[in-house]
Amino acid sequence: MRKRIAILGSTGSIGVQTLEVAAALPEQFEVVALAAGSNDQLLARQIELFHPKLAVLHEQRAAARLKADMGGCCEIMSGDEGLLAAASYPEVDIVVTSLVGTVGLRPTLAAIRAGKDIALANKETLVAAGSLVLAEAARHGVRLLPVDSEHSAIFQCLQGINREELSRIILTASGGPFRGYSREQLKTVTREAVLRHPNWVMGNKITVDSATLMNKGLEVMEAKWLFGMSWDQIAVVVHPQSIVHSMIETVDGTVLAQMGLPDMRLPIQYALTFPRRCVNQFPRLDFIKMGTLVFEPPARDVFSALDLAYHAGRLGGTAPAVLNAANEQAVSLFLAGSISFLRIVDLVRRVLEKHAPVRADDIDTILAADQWARHEVQRIYHEKGGDVS
Ligand SMILES: NC(=O)c1ccc[n+]([C@@H]2O[C@H](COP(=O)([O-])OP(=O)(O)OC[C@H]3O[C@@H](n4cnc5c(N)ncnc54)[C@H](OP(=O)(O)O)[C@@H]3O)[C@@H](O)[C@H]2O)c1
Repeated sequence: MRKRIAILGSTGSIGVQTLEVAAALPEQFEVVALAAGSNDQLLARQIELFHPKLAVLHEQRAAARLKADMGGCCEIMSGDEGLLAAASYPEVDIVVTSLVGTVGLRPTLAAIRAGKDIALANKETLVAAGSLVLAEAARHGVRLLPVDSEHSAIFQCLQGINREELSRIILTASGGPFRGYSREQLKTVTREAVLRHPNWVMGNKITVDSATLMNKGLEVMEAKWLFGMSWDQIAVVVHPQSIVHSMIETVDGTVLAQMGLPDMRLPIQYALTFPRRCVNQFPRLDFIKMGTLVFEPPARDVFSALDLAYHAGRLGGTAPAVLNAANEQAVSLFLAGSISFLRIVDLVRRVLEKHAPVRADDIDTILAADQWARHEVQRIYHEKGGDVS
């Protein structure tokens, strides 16, 4: 029987690549529900190609346009209600969570509570609410299958390994477009340069996070929850070629790595076909053409977001939710041209310093911390009359 999938964030980078995977394996997958923010034109094309039973746009006016164009083709919903309906749609086996940001939290929890397996791309959900998400997944017996290439790599290396025999995991980081830059050089980088990632084409938010290295900090937290590691057991190494997607080290000193071309369709496909592997036509890694692989330590003094994320993780409670929300807000300001690149992490640090973490066991507490952090970023930004330099 075909696996029935829902994609939350179908119009984004991960969503579109998930549909490519589904289109290449029509005997394996049926696309049942699609949800996105406001891109009605792309969602309309996806409806024509994949014939879902439910399509959702969060934004009301965009949903109304979609309904006018495609209303006869499938059920169309909007708002939070629509996202929750897509997440928990009865005829779905696995939900791909590829919304960007904390907006993914409630739908992910709804999918888990409806007993759906989760192909998890939306890392912000685990960062903000890791403890809650894990507890709900255990309660409802659902699997959290990583889509992020690093976490998929670790997950793949772990197959057949006893967890007691794992000593640490090593996340690789490309280093982003500004590897080797000094803080002085970072003062003047442009929005265009930030959005030009050397190896991956991704959504704007994660591309900015890759340039600050906040993305790797968020991934450290994601790894902690997915693989049950302590902070000291998660290392980060810069590997600019993005061929080794991450590694594990076992207690006897063996290192297992997962390698491949930088192509998100591979981890997406593995999450969807797990525990099986399927033939595909994607380009293959050629060891002769690959050239030299480089590994080096991250420049933690220049890219301080990485240690800030470890710090928030160690603080625990609502601190990671605050770091995450402050970062989302600061990245939005950067993308709008309102603050400079270096101010992103400065703002996050200031907000985190002001926060007194409390336990993060329920969604209301987590979302209150998230809202507080967003307001703090705005407050500091306006207090300084614009850019907080
Ligand atoms: N891209 C990658 O290669 C990659 C790799 C690893 C992990 N991830 C993670 O995957 C997630 C998605 O990343 P992405 O790069 O695919 O992002 P993206 O290209 O920006 O796509 C985001 C998706 O979320 C939708 N969306 C945004 N705000 C929404 C809202 N309020 N309500 C409903 N839908 C909303 C967008 O819809 P509209 O287009 O209609 O606005 C779009 O479909 C992130 O958490 C990211 O960290 C991405």
